[in-house]
Amino acid sequence: DSRRSLLKMAALGVAAGLTGTGSSLAQAAAQAADESARPQPGDHLVLDKATPSKRPLRVEDIEPGEPTLAYPFDMETDTIRSGSRFNKVVLLRFEESELPEEVAANAADGVLAFSSVCTHQGCDVNAWMASDGLLACFCHGSMFDPFDGGQVVAGPAPRGLPVLPISEVDGEIIVASGFSSAPGF
Ligand code: FES
Repeated sequence: DSRRSLLKMAALGVAAGLTGTGSSLAQAAAQAADESARPQPGDHLVLDKATPSKRPLRVEDIEPGEPTLAYPFDMETDTIRSGSRFNKVVLLRFEESELPEEVAANAADGVLAFSSVCTHQGCDVNAWMASDGLLACFCHGSMFDPFDGGQVVAGPAPRGLPVLPISEVDGEIIVASGFSSAPGF
């Protein structure tokens, strides 16, 4: 009898273990899916750093003339959507009065957001050419105009940078809607 009980307990233990493994795998898969999901309305943004910070970016964190790389952050699930680099954005700050009306409509108090993935071969677009007023990818010299919806003005990139519409709420930068087109190359 005691042998039978031991076998039964062992079987129950294995079953419990399998169930646990199954649920952690499901949780991990769900989390991975969230981390890879494209920016969602209501997401905040956090700095793209080796050690991720979960401090939501505010308008004043973005220095004029300094492109800032960031990832979307879902505060409700405490998830930085850094599971895909296609979610990374580059932020630029201007005086709101400098922006054309249709550009300002997608900006957070003068801050603009674009996919940072160069549409040529995927390098980070992270340079600001102040004299030309253009965003640049140094890999092969593509240039993009932030005042014209991220359109290509020079170099081999075949299309413009997708715009990420954002807005300002209590000083914080919030994603207003998804990318204007699919990010990538
Ligand atoms: Fe950007 Fe080639 S990857 S110009």
